[in-house]
Amino acid sequence: MDALSDVNLTVEKGEIFGIIGHSGAGKSTLLRCVNLLERPSLGSVSVGGHELTILSEKELQQRRQKIGMIFQHFNLLSTATVRDNIAFPLKMSTLSKEKVRRRVDELLDLVGLRGHEQSYPAQLSGGQKQRVGIARALANHPDVLLCDEATSALDPHTTESILTLLKDINQKLGITILLITHEMNVIRSICDRVAVMEGGRIIELGEVLEVFLNPHHKTTRDFVSQVAETVDVQAQGLRPEGVVVRINYQGDLAHEPILFETVKGTEASFVILQGTVSRMKDTPYGQLIVELRGNSRDTSQIIEQLRHRGLDVSVL
Ligand SMILES: Nc1ncnc2c1ncn2[C@@H]1O[C@H](COP(=O)(O)OP(=O)(O)O)[C@@H](O)[C@H]1O
Ligand SMILES: [Mg+2]
Repeated sequence: MDALSDVNLTVEKGEIFGIIGHSGAGKSTLLRCVNLLERPSLGSVSVGGHELTILSEKELQQRRQKIGMIFQHFNLLSTATVRDNIAFPLKMSTLSKEKVRRRVDELLDLVGLRGHEQSYPAQLSGGQKQRVGIARALANHPDVLLCDEATSALDPHTTESILTLLKDINQKLGITILLITHEMNVIRSICDRVAVMEGGRIIELGEVLEVFLNPHHKTTRDFVSQVAETVDVQAQGLRPEGVVVRINYQGDLAHEPILFETVKGTEASFVILQGTVSRMKDTPYGQLIVELRGNSRDTSQIIEQLRHRGLDVSVL
């Protein structure tokens, strides 16, 4: 059986692209195909306009320097200090000792590990170890950073701090980030687009907010439900008498009293059965389940008005 098949994926320069899937879906295999640690038996891989699949081993080594990678279990050298771990990828370079020292200092500042340069990995927390991993991955000024479950071994608070660091690195240095995870929370916090994988294939792909608010595939819906309550009006024992609608909205609309204003002009009223107002990376969004009570002319008019003002309304 093929580990991957029919995978066609283009990641844009400068974006943070997430791949989510259950264990065994083929995520790590796909990520390892990007730097050809795993060589696909069919197809090609291009990074930054260079087709890697046709390069010689030596050329490939060079191109790989521009693709950093971090891992779930950090993969640090346990017998080397933080400074030596970070300097490790620079060993092959022609940089002078002094230049290496300065580059490592820059990286220590970037990841917030000043003062820990003489520590050994065993003396660090998980979050600090991953910071060393990130600094080491950035040593050669890569254009692309691959992250294989980089926060999966960390507690939620540390996960947040590492995700914030990755987002900063993406914004400040313009590095394209391709990350894989089984946690929707990671996708929601920092990704621009997401692909969902299952059985070695991509089953859904799109802008994170789009996929989140409107998941098509069952597996995608399961992942979304990790971070958003899905509404099952019947299961909750609610007995609405009116029309139940799901209302999705995003961006500036999240700050407008649109529902109130729309209903106010009619004789209908409304009950909020469930609601989430949150943030997807930097975009505010809301998802409400609302029961509209009134005559059918009013409720139809309300739904039409809400749609007219840019809200996504579906009748449940
Ligand atoms: N080179 C390969 N050829 C065929 N199957 C592989 C290869 N590498 C991994 N696999 C299999 O592909 C599946 C996906 O593995 P993996 O990419 O590690 O999944 P994930 O990272 O999503 O958990 C696993 O069943 C694994 O045993
Ligand atoms: Mg994996």
